[in-house]
Amino acid sequence: MTSRYHRLDRFLSTRLQISRSNLRLLLAAGRVQVNGVAERDRQRRIGPFDLVVCDGEILQANRPRYLMLNKPAAVVSATCDDHHPTVLDLLPNDQREGLHLAGRLDFNSTGLVLLTNDGDWSRQLSQPENRVRKHYRVTLEKPLTEEYVTAFADGMWFEYEGIVTRPAELKIRSPFEADVWLCEGRYHQIKRMFGRFDNKVLTLHRVAIGNLVLDEKLKPGEWRELTASELAVFSD
Ligand code: URA
Repeated sequence: MTSRYHRLDRFLSTRLQISRSNLRLLLAAGRVQVNGVAERDRQRRIGPFDLVVCDGEILQANRPRYLMLNKPAAVVSATCDDHHPTVLDLLPNDQREGLHLAGRLDFNSTGLVLLTNDGDWSRQLSQPENRVRKHYRVTLEKPLTEEYVTAFADGMWFEYEGIVTRPAELKIRSPFEADVWLCEGRYHQIKRMFGRFDNKVLTLHRVAIGNLVLDEKLKPGEWRELTASELAVFSD
Protein backbone atom coordinates (compact mmCIF):
# COMPACT_ATOMS: atom_id res chain seq x y z
CA MET A 1 0.00 0.00 0.00
CA THR A 2 1.52 3.36 -0.99
CA SER A 3 0.83 5.55 1.97
CA ARG A 4 3.92 6.11 4.05
CA TYR A 5 6.04 9.16 4.34
CA HIS A 6 9.82 8.77 4.40
CA ARG A 7 12.66 11.09 5.23
CA LEU A 8 14.41 12.18 2.04
CA ASP A 9 17.80 10.76 3.13
CA ARG A 10 16.26 7.36 3.91
CA PHE A 11 14.34 7.36 0.66
CA LEU A 12 17.49 8.20 -1.33
CA SER A 13 19.75 5.73 0.42
CA THR A 14 17.27 2.93 -0.29
CA ARG A 15 16.84 3.93 -3.90
CA LEU A 16 20.43 4.81 -4.73
CA GLN A 17 22.32 2.47 -2.41
CA ILE A 18 24.97 5.09 -1.62
CA SER A 19 26.88 5.98 1.54
CA ARG A 20 25.71 8.60 3.96
CA SER A 21 28.59 10.93 3.07
CA ASN A 22 27.86 10.68 -0.66
CA LEU A 23 24.23 11.33 0.10
CA ARG A 24 25.10 14.55 1.90
CA LEU A 25 27.26 15.68 -1.01
CA LEU A 26 24.47 14.91 -3.44
CA LEU A 27 21.99 16.97 -1.49
CA ALA A 28 24.41 19.82 -0.80
CA ALA A 29 25.11 20.09 -4.53
CA GLY A 30 21.40 20.57 -5.22
CA ARG A 31 21.30 17.50 -7.46
CA VAL A 32 18.09 16.20 -5.94
CA GLN A 33 14.80 17.84 -6.85
CA VAL A 34 11.47 17.36 -5.11
CA ASN A 35 8.50 18.48 -7.14
CA GLY A 36 10.78 20.44 -9.46
CA VAL A 37 12.71 22.31 -6.75
CA ALA A 38 16.26 21.51 -5.54
CA GLU A 39 15.99 20.07 -2.04
CA ARG A 40 18.94 20.24 0.36
CA ASP A 41 17.18 19.29 3.59
CA ARG A 42 17.83 15.61 4.22
CA GLN A 43 15.07 15.51 6.81
CA ARG A 44 12.44 16.65 4.34
CA ARG A 45 9.55 14.19 4.40
CA ILE A 46 8.62 12.58 1.12
CA GLY A 47 5.06 11.50 0.49
CA PRO A 48 4.08 8.75 -1.93
CA PHE A 49 3.04 11.25 -4.58
CA ASP A 50 6.02 13.63 -4.45
CA LEU A 51 8.06 13.68 -7.65
CA VAL A 52 11.69 12.92 -6.78
CA VAL A 53 14.41 13.38 -9.39
CA CYS A 54 18.18 12.95 -9.03
CA ASP A 55 20.51 14.13 -11.79
CA GLY A 56 17.56 14.07 -14.15
CA GLU A 57 16.61 10.49 -13.30
CA ILE A 58 13.08 10.04 -11.98
CA LEU A 59 13.22 8.10 -8.70
CA GLN A 60 9.54 8.40 -7.87
CA ALA A 61 6.61 9.71 -9.89
CA ASN A 62 3.45 8.14 -8.59
CA ARG A 63 0.14 9.64 -9.57
CA PRO A 64 -2.63 9.24 -7.00
CA ARG A 65 -5.38 7.13 -8.50
CA TYR A 66 -9.01 6.69 -7.47
CA LEU A 67 -11.28 4.27 -9.31
CA MET A 68 -14.86 3.13 -8.93
CA LEU A 69 -15.82 -0.34 -10.07
CA ASN A 70 -19.14 -2.13 -10.34
CA LYS A 71 -18.32 -5.45 -8.71
CA PRO A 72 -20.16 -8.43 -10.18
CA ALA A 73 -21.16 -11.43 -8.05
CA ALA A 74 -18.66 -14.30 -7.75
CA VAL A 75 -15.65 -11.99 -7.64
CA VAL A 76 -13.43 -11.64 -4.58
CA SER A 77 -12.83 -8.23 -3.00
CA ALA A 78 -9.08 -8.74 -2.80
CA THR A 79 -6.02 -8.10 -4.89
CA CYS A 80 -5.12 -11.78 -5.24
CA ASP A 81 -6.86 -15.08 -4.70
CA ASP A 82 -5.88 -18.64 -5.58
CA HIS A 83 -9.34 -19.84 -6.52
CA HIS A 84 -11.53 -17.02 -7.81
CA PRO A 85 -11.21 -13.90 -9.94
CA THR A 86 -10.56 -10.72 -7.95
CA VAL A 87 -11.72 -7.17 -8.56
CA LEU A 88 -8.17 -6.38 -9.66
CA ASP A 89 -8.46 -9.01 -12.41
CA LEU A 90 -11.24 -6.89 -13.91
CA LEU A 91 -8.70 -4.18 -14.73
CA PRO A 92 -6.21 -4.37 -17.61
CA ASN A 93 -2.73 -5.41 -16.45
CA ASP A 94 -1.23 -1.99 -16.98
CA GLN A 95 -3.83 -0.36 -14.71
CA ARG A 96 -3.36 -2.54 -11.64
CA GLU A 97 -0.05 -1.53 -10.15
CA GLY A 98 -0.13 -0.32 -6.55
CA LEU A 99 -3.92 -0.40 -6.25
CA HIS A 100 -5.73 -1.67 -3.19
CA LEU A 101 -9.35 -1.74 -2.11
CA ALA A 102 -10.98 0.92 0.00
CA GLY A 103 -13.54 -1.37 1.61
CA ARG A 104 -14.69 -4.85 0.67
CA LEU A 105 -17.85 -6.54 -0.45
CA ASP A 106 -18.69 -10.21 0.07
CA PHE A 107 -18.07 -12.70 -2.74
CA ASN A 108 -21.67 -12.62 -3.95
CA SER A 109 -22.39 -8.98 -3.18
CA THR A 110 -22.39 -6.54 -6.09
CA GLY A 111 -21.95 -2.84 -6.65
CA LEU A 112 -19.68 0.01 -5.71
CA VAL A 113 -16.07 -0.80 -4.87
CA LEU A 114 -13.34 1.83 -4.67
CA LEU A 115 -9.73 1.19 -5.63
CA THR A 116 -6.80 3.48 -4.99
CA ASN A 117 -3.05 3.67 -4.50
CA ASP A 118 -3.53 6.34 -1.81
CA GLY A 119 -3.41 4.64 1.56
CA ASP A 120 -4.22 7.81 3.50
CA TRP A 121 -7.41 8.26 1.49
CA SER A 122 -8.61 4.68 1.94
CA ARG A 123 -7.84 4.85 5.65
CA GLN A 124 -9.90 8.01 6.00
CA LEU A 125 -12.82 6.27 4.33
CA SER A 126 -12.68 3.19 6.51
CA GLN A 127 -11.94 4.82 9.87
CA PRO A 128 -14.98 4.13 12.06
CA GLU A 129 -14.86 7.59 13.65
CA ASN A 130 -15.41 9.20 10.23
CA ARG A 131 -18.73 7.35 10.00
CA VAL A 132 -18.92 7.28 6.23
CA ARG A 133 -22.39 5.92 5.46
CA LYS A 134 -22.66 3.09 2.98
CA HIS A 135 -25.89 2.54 1.12
CA TYR A 136 -26.99 -0.98 0.16
CA ARG A 137 -30.00 -2.31 -1.70
CA VAL A 138 -31.05 -5.72 -0.46
CA THR A 139 -33.59 -8.33 -1.54
CA LEU A 140 -34.87 -10.85 0.99
CA GLU A 141 -36.39 -14.27 1.03
CA LYS A 142 -39.24 -13.33 3.40
CA PRO A 143 -41.38 -10.21 3.65
CA LEU A 144 -40.18 -7.26 5.73
CA THR A 145 -42.04 -5.64 8.61
CA GLU A 146 -41.65 -2.40 10.56
CA GLU A 147 -39.98 -4.43 13.32
CA TYR A 148 -36.85 -4.58 11.17
CA VAL A 149 -36.67 -0.78 10.99
CA THR A 150 -36.62 -0.50 14.76
CA ALA A 151 -34.19 -3.37 15.28
CA PHE A 152 -31.71 -1.93 12.78
CA ALA A 153 -31.98 1.53 14.36
CA ASP A 154 -31.56 0.18 17.88
CA GLY A 155 -28.46 -1.85 17.01
CA MET A 156 -27.87 -5.55 17.51
CA TRP A 157 -25.56 -7.39 19.87
CA PHE A 158 -22.81 -9.18 17.91
CA GLU A 159 -21.52 -11.89 20.19
CA TYR A 160 -18.30 -12.60 18.29
CA GLU A 161 -17.09 -8.98 18.29
CA GLY A 162 -18.65 -8.18 21.67
CA ILE A 163 -20.29 -5.01 20.31
CA VAL A 164 -23.68 -3.52 19.63
CA THR A 165 -23.94 -2.43 16.01
CA ARG A 166 -24.22 1.30 15.41
CA PRO A 167 -27.66 2.65 14.55
CA ALA A 168 -28.46 1.65 10.98
CA GLU A 169 -31.21 3.02 8.78
CA LEU A 170 -33.54 0.66 6.98
CA LYS A 171 -36.21 1.77 4.50
CA ILE A 172 -38.66 -0.78 3.19
CA ARG A 173 -39.08 -0.31 -0.57
CA SER A 174 -41.42 -3.24 -1.15
CA PRO A 175 -42.25 -6.41 0.83
CA PHE A 176 -39.02 -8.14 -0.23
CA GLU A 177 -36.71 -5.19 -0.88
CA ALA A 178 -35.04 -2.65 1.41
CA ASP A 179 -32.44 0.11 1.42
CA VAL A 180 -29.96 -0.07 4.28
CA TRP A 181 -27.43 2.55 5.40
CA LEU A 182 -24.55 1.44 7.63
CA CYS A 183 -21.75 3.55 9.04
CA GLU A 184 -19.55 0.59 9.90
CA GLY A 185 -18.59 -2.62 8.14
CA ARG A 186 -18.62 -5.69 10.36
CA TYR A 187 -18.05 -9.09 8.81
CA HIS A 188 -21.21 -10.08 6.84
CA GLN A 189 -22.99 -7.36 8.78
CA ILE A 190 -26.15 -7.02 6.73
CA LYS A 191 -26.62 -10.75 6.30
CA ARG A 192 -26.19 -11.27 10.02
CA MET A 193 -28.66 -8.50 10.84
CA PHE A 194 -31.35 -9.98 8.63
CA GLY A 195 -30.33 -13.38 9.95
CA ARG A 196 -31.72 -12.31 13.33
CA PHE A 197 -35.12 -12.47 11.68
CA ASP A 198 -34.22 -15.75 10.03
CA ASN A 199 -34.53 -13.90 6.75
CA LYS A 200 -32.02 -14.76 4.06
CA VAL A 201 -30.42 -12.03 1.96
CA LEU A 202 -30.83 -13.01 -1.67
CA THR A 203 -29.02 -10.09 -3.28
CA LEU A 204 -26.95 -7.29 -1.79
CA HIS A 205 -25.86 -4.35 -3.91
CA ARG A 206 -23.81 -1.37 -2.71
CA VAL A 207 -25.25 1.78 -4.23
CA ALA A 208 -23.11 4.46 -2.59
CA ILE A 209 -20.27 5.21 -0.19
CA GLY A 210 -20.93 8.53 1.51
CA ASN A 211 -22.23 10.84 -1.21
CA LEU A 212 -20.40 8.97 -3.93
CA VAL A 213 -22.94 7.03 -5.95
CA LEU A 214 -22.10 4.15 -8.28
CA ASP A 215 -22.30 5.36 -11.88
CA GLU A 216 -25.37 3.67 -13.37
CA LYS A 217 -23.65 3.54 -16.74
CA LEU A 218 -21.06 1.09 -15.41
CA LYS A 219 -22.12 -2.46 -16.18
CA PRO A 220 -21.05 -5.24 -13.78
CA GLY A 221 -17.28 -5.60 -14.08
CA GLU A 222 -16.76 -2.12 -15.54
CA TRP A 223 -14.78 0.65 -13.87
CA ARG A 224 -13.65 4.22 -14.36
CA GLU A 225 -11.56 6.89 -12.64
CA LEU A 226 -13.35 9.16 -10.18
CA THR A 227 -13.92 12.70 -11.37
CA ALA A 228 -12.59 15.69 -9.43
CA SER A 229 -16.08 16.49 -8.15
CA GLU A 230 -16.60 12.92 -6.99
CA LEU A 231 -13.33 13.05 -5.10
CA ALA A 232 -14.33 16.33 -3.52
CA VAL A 233 -17.34 14.71 -1.81
CA PHE A 234 -14.93 13.11 0.66
CA SER A 235 -13.17 16.33 1.56
CA ASP A 236 -16.41 18.13 2.58
N1 URA B 1 -22.90 -6.66 4.59
C1 URA B 1 -22.83 -7.96 4.16
O1 URA B 1 -23.37 -8.86 4.77
N2 URA B 1 -22.15 -8.18 3.01
C2 URA B 1 -21.55 -7.21 2.28
O2 URA B 1 -20.96 -7.49 1.23
C3 URA B 1 -21.65 -5.88 2.75
C4 URA B 1 -22.33 -5.64 3.91
